Amino acid sequence: FRAKFLSGYQVLVTAGPTREEIDPVRFISNRSSGRMGYAIAQAAQAAGAQVTLISGPVALSPLTGVQLVSVYSAQEMLAAVMTQVATVDIFIATAAVADYRPSQPLGHKFKKHEAHWQITLERTPDILATVASLPHPPFTVGFAAETDNLIEYARAKLQLKKLDMIVANPVGIAGIGFDSEENELSILWAEDSIELPRAAKTELAKQLLEVIIQRYQKSGRL
Ligand code: PMT
Repeated sequence: FRAKFLSGYQVLVTAGPTREEIDPVRFISNRSSGRMGYAIAQAAQAAGAQVTLISGPVALSPLTGVQLVSVYSAQEMLAAVMTQVATVDIFIATAAVADYRPSQPLGHKFKKHEAHWQITLERTPDILATVASLPHPPFTVGFAAETDNLIEYARAKLQLKKLDMIVANPVGIAGIGFDSEENELSILWAEDSIELPRAAKTELAKQLLEVIIQRYQKSGRL
């Protein structure tokens, strides 16, 4: 980075999947490795920010100089985010939060007596929308992971959730997106968008941070 642009600023990043318990030995989750979010946290730290990383269960090592808060479920991630958010300048929601959870997790291991097992799911809380609708939200950056109509759906999320910016990544292509070293990003905001072609997530994270800093400056809040 040209200078320690984010020196004195607080950045909150979420990363990884969440796990939603079915019973004490089973859960619903997804293929997020946490790499994208960890790379963003690292880039923000390199830009001088004080960074808190709220992470679901991943196999990555903690980052030097970044405060790590480990969580399990969407509910826990929401609680951790809300504990931190009041003092945060920039919030980047990279986590692949499970959209649904079992309505009634079992307290005991389900025994396989029947040929079929129906589990009723309910929506998890939307962490990103909760933050963006605060009376004084931080500069809020969401992600959009889509297999189809990527840009259209991402722009809809940007507007619906009243975000400052959204980062769209295609997740139906081998070698990028979930659980891979590389990615490909489209960054959208109200007036414009920019494409970051396929590269290592560590490299894209730096480029994304540059764009976030520029937009944050333009918003008059830096
Ligand atoms: O972890 P990696 O293996 O490196 O993979 C990176 C990634 C593909 C997971 C990442 O780049 C990414 O796209 N993260 C968002 C995945 C996702 O859940 O997208 P979504 O379109 O379903 O959600 C939109 C936004 O709402 C996201 O910012 C998400 O964090 C947020 N969300 C979603 C559901 C929910 N209950 N609460 C939320 O805050």
